[in-house]
Amino acid sequence: MAGIKILLLSITVAFSAYYFFSTETVTPGSVHGKRILVTGSSTGIGEQIAYEFAQMGAHVMLTARRETHLQKVAEKCRKLGALSAHYVVSDMANLTSAQHVIQVTNEKLGGLDYLILNHVGGSGSFGTFQGDMDVVKSSMTVNFLSYVQLTSSALHALKESHGSIVVMSSMSGRVGAPFTTSYCAAKFALEGFYSSLRREFSIWKNNVSVTVAVLGYIDTENAVKKVGDKLTMKPSPKEDCAKQVVKAAILRQPEVFYPFWSIKPVMLVKDWAPILIGNLLDRFYIVENLK
Ligand SMILES: NC(=O)c1ccc[n+]([C@@H]2O[C@H](COP(=O)([O-])OP(=O)(O)OC[C@H]3O[C@@H](n4cnc5c(N)ncnc54)[C@H](OP(=O)(O)O)[C@@H]3O)[C@@H](O)[C@H]2O)c1
Ligand SMILES: *[C@@H]1O[C@H](CO)[C@@H](O)[C@H](O)[C@H]1NC(C)=O
Ligand SMILES: *[C@@H]1O[C@H](CO)[C@@H](O)[C@H](O)[C@H]1NC(C)=O
Repeated sequence: MAGIKILLLSITVAFSAYYFFSTETVTPGSVHGKRILVTGSSTGIGEQIAYEFAQMGAHVMLTARRETHLQKVAEKCRKLGALSAHYVVSDMANLTSAQHVIQVTNEKLGGLDYLILNHVGGSGSFGTFQGDMDVVKSSMTVNFLSYVQLTSSALHALKESHGSIVVMSSMSGRVGAPFTTSYCAAKFALEGFYSSLRREFSIWKNNVSVTVAVLGYIDTENAVKKVGDKLTMKPSPKEDCAKQVVKAAILRQPEVFYPFWSIKPVMLVKDWAPILIGNLLDRFYIVENLK
């Protein structure tokens, strides 16, 4: 009996907490004049995140490989209300270049308040693991090591500003998903690194927040091109995704799940019933379109 009462009490507390946090609102004023770096901001979710911050009057620094895209995004950021919008071209396969991005950010913005780690790349494609080590190394460098390099180089500035780190993860960072071995590996590595770092910040009272975004399938051009014909799932809008991630970052929440009702229940059940969850998720793949 006591057990059931404690369980019910916990559930009530959990739901009240969720209600409280989800209705917490963001005042745009809290971002005005803040300095933001968004990686992988030439397109997709990163581009949308840059626009969200621009609208609230932030200083925005963009980075990716394609200069013409970055130019256009920077221009739109200024139109939307960014106090300034710069970009620096960089290939995250090159960790020295990642270091350089932080150098340029410090020079142009005089510090950093939000480090948004969002880029995704590497030589891997969506498909069966064929034993190719170069694909694994490429994914671990672009999708994991460069994130850590950027964090390492920005650490001093973030401690100084009581800033925030946002890490874009995926359901594939918490549950093994087929046909994405190298991507999954990098996302799991990110989850490990940043959950550990968050504890250290807490213990040493470094006022730097770490927000991990656990995302489902989002309708970016690249994602739809890659998996559109291989998944039966419907993608969620990148604009709304960016809004929810930015809100969680401003509120300094440790985690955000988007779309919430497709991801959160899976997260709650997966440790109790891993085989059930695995089999359930396998049904979303159109294996005829995969080799
Ligand atoms: N879309 C989804 O369904 C989904 C689901 C779960 C999680 N996520 C996560 O959400 C984040 C954004 O995803 P997205 O769909 O918006 O990605 P996307 O549209 O493919 O954009 C990727 C960005 O990364 C940049 N990039 C790629 N390779 C790079 C490299 N070697 N060096 C530097 N920049 C590079 C790209 O720009 P350039 O090509 O110009 O370099 C682009 O700006 C990623 O972390 C992804 O894992 C996405
Ligand atoms: C890596 O980036 C650095 C700094 O931007 C640059 O000097 C170097 O030539 C790059 N290395 C490669 C292999 O492209
Ligand atoms: C931590 O940083 C946030 C954002 O800069 C600030 O609002 C908060 O007051 C800080 N907390 C402490 C204990 O310094």
